Amino acid sequence: MTADTVAYHVADGIAWVRFNRPEKRNCMNPALNRRMMEVLDELEFRDDVGVLVLSGEGSAWSAGMDLKEYFRETEAKGLGAVRQSQRESYGWWRALRWYQKPTIAMVNGWCFGGGYGPLYACDLAIAAEEAKFALSEINWGILPGGGATKVVVDLMPLRDAMYHALTGELIDGKKAAEWRLVNEAVPLDQLQDRVTQVARMLLEKNPAALKATKDAVRRVKEMTYDNAEDYLVRAQEAANFHDNTGRKEGIRQFIDEKSYKPGLGAYRR
Ligand code: ACO
Repeated sequence: MTADTVAYHVADGIAWVRFNRPEKRNCMNPALNRRMMEVLDELEFRDDVGVLVLSGEGSAWSAGMDLKEYFRETEAKGLGAVRQSQRESYGWWRALRWYQKPTIAMVNGWCFGGGYGPLYACDLAIAAEEAKFALSEINWGILPGGGATKVVVDLMPLRDAMYHALTGELIDGKKAAEWRLVNEAVPLDQLQDRVTQVARMLLEKNPAALKATKDAVRRVKEMTYDNAEDYLVRAQEAANFHDNTGRKEGIRQFIDEKSYKPGLGAYRR
């Protein structure tokens, strides 16, 4: 019944996952949130998936939470339903933040409010210059919840985060890149090519190292230097448990075989 709220296909190591309610500008209702969790679960450990890209069908990436189904109708059912809906949306964003494979948000259009949760959850974000972003919560009388305030404070300079949250003003992809909400912005007609290029770069790397690295970047942000130093030693040793040949092979191909230079690209796997 909920199967079509999320579209996806896998090609050449990349899982292309799309919000699929274009007629509702891909706003997130409970059915979409439940379905997205299923799709993420189904793709996470597949051998033919090395990178996951999250984009939207139609003119939107995501117009945030569904104000009718996620808020009004759920609230009408009482606190239990509200908490359940929050668990479902926050749940898949959390799963995405710590996903086994590297993830890229390909922001093709509108991105509002609750959409900042999955945007932040993706490891990288590349937007169309034409995409439009806003924390529009203030426009309908609430604070940016569901993590959105935390997202902008984590990613943006404080003055920009404050302006963004207080005004609800739209910014385009270029400004979003300038404010570091996304890595970069390219013209919409080049967006998929650029994302594919970045995904292919990731596909060349050691998957255990990618997972260890993405987790480390998120974890150390909140640690003291000494705690980070210790965590990173332990994280590398844990990664060695999952892949005990990768780094030896990386050294061997450079030092003994002289077949590549780590400064210039990845070793042959
Ligand atoms: N919640 C519920 N329905 C929505 C949402 C939403 N967030 N966004 C769009 N829709 C629905 C519209 O009600 C409309 O439904 P209808 O066809 O049954 O009338 C349909 O999607 C198409 O939307 P339009 O407004 O007609 O599309 P348009 O392209 O003109 O505008 C825009 C797009 C700017 C994204 C507009 O739909 C909009 O402002 N949406 C709300 C954005 C927003 O502020 N989201 C909430 C953020 S805060 C949070 O997520 C907690």
